[in-house]
Amino acid sequence: MFFEIANRQSQIKNHMSDIHQEILLDHFKNPRNRGLMESPDFRRHGVNPACGDEVELTVRVNDKRIKDIKVQSSGCVISQASASMMTEMVKGKLLTECADLVETFRHFLVGNEGAGALSGSLDELSAFSNIKNQPGRVNCAMLPWIALLEGIWEYFKKS
Ligand code: FES
Repeated sequence: MFFEIANRQSQIKNHMSDIHQEILLDHFKNPRNRGLMESPDFRRHGVNPACGDEVELTVRVNDKRIKDIKVQSSGCVISQASASMMTEMVKGKLLTECADLVETFRHFLVGNEGAGALSGSLDELSAFSNIKNQPGRVNCAMLPWIALLEGIWEYFKKS
């Protein structure tokens, strides 16, 4: 009985891992909100010093919410999929909510919480479960989010 349950759990884990891989690859191959916009309200460049991969964000703000966001990036599957997902998740959100999202995602990646920590619209980020607590890969996933957070700080400082 024990081995049956363990085997079933292992099958479920492998299945989830396949689904997560598919989600990441889909965002990598078909990145959402790709490009740069003219005259954004703020712009932020981020670099992963470990590999030199880059991300450039341009953001339009309206009434303290992200009205539009575009990303130009070069890098690994993880960083690019993360950037693509991020653009979908932050559109329409208050800048302060976006800053909270960055923290929630970071906590998920470096903490012991399961995917349950990512509720509602953040659910898709559970596709990064396989890289939890792997510092190099966590930095890849956080690259666009840190750039967004820094951009938000700069924006608040200027306005
Ligand atoms: Fe460069 Fe992932 S290897 S951001």
